[in-house]
Amino acid sequence: MRSHGCGDLRQDATGQDVQLCGWVDRRRDHGGVIFIDLRDRSGTVQITVDPDLSPEAFAVAEHLRNETVLQVSGKVRARPAASINERLATGTVEVLAAAITVLNSVKANLPFPVSLHDEENTREELRLRYRYLDLRRERMNRNLRLRHSTIRAARNYLEAADFIEVETPVLTRSTPEGARDYLVPSRVCGGEWFALPQSPQLFKQLLMVGGLERYYQVARCFRDEDLRADRQPEFTQLDMEMSFLDQEQILALNEGLIATIWKEVKGIELPLPFPRLSWHEAMERYGTDRPDTRYGMELVTVSDLVAGMGFKVFSGAVAAGGSVKVLPVPGGNDALSNVRIKPGGDVFSEAQKAGAGGLAFIRVRENGEIDTIGAIKDNLSEATKAELLARTGAVPGTLLLFGAGDTATVNKALDRVRQFLARELGLVKPERDNASWNFLWVVDFPMFEFNKDENRLEALHHPFCAPNTDDLGNDPAAWATTLPTARAQAYDLVLNGLELGGGSLRIHDSALQRQVLQTIGLPLEEANRQFGFLMEALDLGAPPHGGIAFGLDRLVMLLAGEESIRDTIAFPKTQQARCLMTQAPADVSAKQLEELHVASTWVEEEARG
Ligand code: AMO
Repeated sequence: MRSHGCGDLRQDATGQDVQLCGWVDRRRDHGGVIFIDLRDRSGTVQITVDPDLSPEAFAVAEHLRNETVLQVSGKVRARPAASINERLATGTVEVLAAAITVLNSVKANLPFPVSLHDEENTREELRLRYRYLDLRRERMNRNLRLRHSTIRAARNYLEAADFIEVETPVLTRSTPEGARDYLVPSRVCGGEWFALPQSPQLFKQLLMVGGLERYYQVARCFRDEDLRADRQPEFTQLDMEMSFLDQEQILALNEGLIATIWKEVKGIELPLPFPRLSWHEAMERYGTDRPDTRYGMELVTVSDLVAGMGFKVFSGAVAAGGSVKVLPVPGGNDALSNVRIKPGGDVFSEAQKAGAGGLAFIRVRENGEIDTIGAIKDNLSEATKAELLARTGAVPGTLLLFGAGDTATVNKALDRVRQFLARELGLVKPERDNASWNFLWVVDFPMFEFNKDENRLEALHHPFCAPNTDDLGNDPAAWATTLPTARAQAYDLVLNGLELGGGSLRIHDSALQRQVLQTIGLPLEEANRQFGFLMEALDLGAPPHGGIAFGLDRLVMLLAGEESIRDTIAFPKTQQARCLMTQAPADVSAKQLEELHVASTWVEEEARG
């Protein structure tokens, strides 16, 4: 049906007879001559329809609506210098139409203009409701191609390194990754349920027991959790597992993978190896395990310095086992008024959203004078002042923001404020123009964290991560005491403050695996019931193994300079985990439910009162 892509025509095609297919991007009637911008996935070219040269084509062109699907034949000619369109790759040529065939007409009003020129102003709900129209646009076209190139680069790299792709089941048992499961009722086994995988974690481990040695998969994962710009209920992992490699080898192999992707997709040489930070140091210096290291403003702990200074908020926090930490904000003295830091202000509100009661502060004036208000002022000795300035590296113009309370809340609040201020003060450019790629491995995570609500330890990553052998010790009888505080042989790859991927070495000893499951509160019987198949496999010749999974949607989001992973997925869900196009999830018939042995307890809101 066609000889060229619309976007492929250049000066060298001048004089050629071509056939094109595509959509009417725009039509302009210039009194006598009609211009059609014809678009396909390769781009757009101008079709010129002259009634004197081709009256039939002109008759068709007169009534064309945008997005009509056309086949056009004609001759390519150079545009006169005055009408060259610099913004179009095909802007130096046009196609003089000889014949136009309508392949399909547009029979209803377009919900939004598809044309490139109007792309920015469409509400996301509309884009998602009519996703196929949105996909015709340049932005989504570019993002999906970039996604494809990313996957291709990864496949080539992994295949060259002897990995093979294996598909793992989607109807399976629950794999604990910390979110709620999506469940599928079994018709055949009444009363029983499959869970959709939160990740292929256990299957990929079992592939190692199966002797595959090097596995990868572009794997669909399902997690019923609160959604954000970087989370979808259904997302894709670039998932890997390998046997007989230690942590250093796994990290090096993955640095090579990421560098290859950046080189092939963006043409950028990333400096290797990536820097590393222990989890402990990340929490200490940034208050988070996925720090954005594109800017400074590192946190400084001053608990010891302020514990005895007579300011209750500080001394109370330290006495209760918490911390006092400082976020130094260079230039913050000028940029941030007291109103913004005190209750009601935007900076205060960021801290409050993270659970903090407020932010104490100290200003270092341009003349070097220290200025503060309230109770801190009354209790700040010259010696403490001097030490505070020294430790925080404060210079004239710096604002010191203090968080005091339990350490987790202080970290959370100062991390949030740090990120907020970095944007406010222009320390990070919007991702779109940002050429700085700050990769960081965070390593040495703790195995467990305490879940206050459930009053138990839970696995920080998942309960299959191997503990650090130095921390664990060699005596299995002591594991019950050494394990809870041990570090894991786990690692996350962070890029510009976003968690791109995470993995670990795995436990390949069933006794240790049982001990970990017991540590997170699973009684032995329950552990055996849920994970007996894994423990059985570990006892039948499991090799030492480990792996990692990258969030593919996030990877592509960063490569594309987008701010939401929805813009990297062809058919994403909304924040309410709904597909606006198909209206899923949706009702099913009573008969279907009956066959599945399922009865709904859902009560409509009105009925619930
Ligand atoms: P983890 O749970 O850290 O590890 O997931 C790996 C990566 O997947 C991405 N990710 C998500 N992306 C979009 N939407 C979501 N809801 C979502 N949840 C996670 C993140 C994350 O870093 N089985 C382990 C990996 C392993 O140990 O090998 C796992 O799934 O980028």
